[in-house]
Amino acid sequence: MGKLDGRVVLISGAARGQGEQEARLFAAEGARVVIADVLDEQGEALAKELGEGVARFVHLDVSREGEWQAAVAAAKDAFGRIDGLVNNAGILRFNELVTTPLEEFQQVVQVNQVGAFLGIKSVAPEIEAAGGGTIVNTASYTGLTGMAFVGAYAATKHAVLGLTKVAAVELAAKGIRVNAVCPGAVDTAMTNPAALDPTADPEESRAAVAELYRKLVPLGRIGQPEEVAALALFLTSDDSSYITGQPFVIDGGWLAGVSLF
Ligand SMILES: NC(=O)c1ccc[n+]([C@@H]2O[C@H](COP(=O)([O-])OP(=O)(O)OC[C@H]3O[C@@H](n4cnc5c(N)ncnc54)[C@H](O)[C@@H]3O)[C@@H](O)[C@H]2O)c1
Repeated sequence: MGKLDGRVVLISGAARGQGEQEARLFAAEGARVVIADVLDEQGEALAKELGEGVARFVHLDVSREGEWQAAVAAAKDAFGRIDGLVNNAGILRFNELVTTPLEEFQQVVQVNQVGAFLGIKSVAPEIEAAGGGTIVNTASYTGLTGMAFVGAYAATKHAVLGLTKVAAVELAAKGIRVNAVCPGAVDTAMTNPAALDPTADPEESRAAVAELYRKLVPLGRIGQPEEVAALALFLTSDDSSYITGQPFVIDGGWLAGVSLF
């Protein structure tokens, strides 16, 4: 028996990274998963690998309300209903606040913050119609504290936590629990842009990343997307049946404080 037997979960940004691992783990735990992303080729390949009875890919730009409606319709067409959502899609831009172009700030808000809002708005009525379920929002370590050069991103992740709390309160009576994951540094293309650069030396960039987090993080390493997926599974399954409205930090102890030695 899997922890998600019979469940249908839509995961945004699931073509790669944490979303991909969430799709793989949820499917292994018995869920049918809707892989929603702008990366059509990668998303299609993952859905094909997991199998037609288990996974479907839908093209979804989370910042567009019409695309959410189409994705929900496609998910219901494939699996009959939706009773879980993981709002995972996100983008990161590095810039000092005073030099951040307005367009860049707005683009980050549109994907990370508006995207999470539209996900809740579009999918919660379906989860209610299915008899209740769960929403997991993806915030960040930077949803709880500041970090230089990621002002737009941190602002949106703080907003995601606000949305999480309001949604939890509004949707509790409809049988929907809403929580958030707050990852620290996780080993995906987002934290290691060199992974997307074919000219970068993979060994060199892996070593540089390992050294950085050995110093920064009490547990001495970067997190793995599979570890965040395990937390998202906990928050999507009945194991967390009395938990709603909460941020869950998964950061190797980074937020706990600094070490002088
Ligand atoms: N990697 C980290 O260290 C870290 C830390 C804290 C929080 N997060 C958050 O975790 C989530 C997943 O990120 P990741 O680390 O897997 O990075 P990633 O870049 O590998 O994955 C992000 C996914 O979101 C998709 N996406 C981007 N814009 C989209 C849009 N408009 N519509 C639909 N999909 C879109 C991308 O195509 C990609 O598949 C993000 O919300 C990110 O902010 C990541």
